[in-house]
Amino acid sequence: MTKPRLYSGMQPSAESLQIGNYIGALLNWKSLQQTHDAFFSIVDLHAITVAQEPAKLRENTRGTAAQYIAAGIDPSASTLYVQSHVAAHAQLAWVLNTITGFGEASRMTQFKDKTARHGADATTVGLFAYPTLMAADILLYQTSVVPVGEDQRQHVELTRDLALRFNSRFGDTFTIPEVAIVKETAKIYDLQNPTSKMSKSAESHAGVIWLLDEPGITRKKIMRAVTDADGGVVFDRENKPGVANLLTIYSVLASRTIESLETEYAGRGYGDLKKGLVEVVLGTFDPIRERVAELLGDPAELDRVLASNAAKASDVANETLATVYDRVGFLPRR
Ligand code: AMP
Ligand code: TRP
Repeated sequence: MTKPRLYSGMQPSAESLQIGNYIGALLNWKSLQQTHDAFFSIVDLHAITVAQEPAKLRENTRGTAAQYIAAGIDPSASTLYVQSHVAAHAQLAWVLNTITGFGEASRMTQFKDKTARHGADATTVGLFAYPTLMAADILLYQTSVVPVGEDQRQHVELTRDLALRFNSRFGDTFTIPEVAIVKETAKIYDLQNPTSKMSKSAESHAGVIWLLDEPGITRKKIMRAVTDADGGVVFDRENKPGVANLLTIYSVLASRTIESLETEYAGRGYGDLKKGLVEVVLGTFDPIRERVAELLGDPAELDRVLASNAAKASDVANETLATVYDRVGFLPRR
């Protein structure tokens, strides 16, 4: 039996992933790659929808690939590749742009948020077209499952609408993808500001745990995490968001239930809980960090892996693109 096709992507927008990416995306992808025919792309075409420093972008693209591999994405089982290595993404995105309503694209909340944040003057056509490029990513691979965070749900819904529209106008071409929303329990909050989501783009890094941080820094950040004056190690997201967040991270990384942690730390202070958490986080990240250093120590080998996976991805993508070009009536080049 063939495995269902799965597609997801991540932006190479920072030097290091943060623990939210690890728990919310990577751990999930790692287990999904066993039951699915998985494609994971490092979406550099998406990254340039906000200004990037060229040398940094190149470095972050390799670094992101290394972190995914080090954290358990197996590049011989999954197709892990760089989006710009497969020309068909930009080509299909163009065709999809022509069947996307201006009003429809204007309703995308991520576009509205980013425009509000960067100012209308800094907004580009590329940022506006971000969701149709994402639709192209998904549809090129005849994807059936798209695991993403809640913030990306609307983009996957647009992808479904575009696929249905194309199919009804030009004949059956695309598989209609299903969104698979990552569980809310996998959402990690900023250690200094435990009611807002931990993010690579947070203004202050004091509450962000980076995969590649030195162990001493990780320890300090966890020991200084905001808690409350109550003192009890109890999971209560409403009233004790800081402690609830620490318990979530602990429970996921140590594969233990929240209840067993509450029991273990009952009557002990937050200091003990934090010390325990430091051990668990470093126990997870130390070997990953070492593996990342090894992978980045041999960039030629890493580039070779990415190139062979891009070749695999191109074969699948070009087949879909050829059908699309034929259906819309482009004259074949002979
Ligand atoms: P981003 O860093 O926003 O490009 O996100 C990459 C992936 O990591 C997406 O699947 C997000 O849903 C996930 N992610 C990012 N931050 C968090 C977080 N704080 N908690 C859980 N998942 C996250
Ligand atoms: N926009 C997604 C994010 O910011 C990343 C992404 C690009 C993606 N293409 C995709 C996710 C295709 C799933 C499928 O998280």
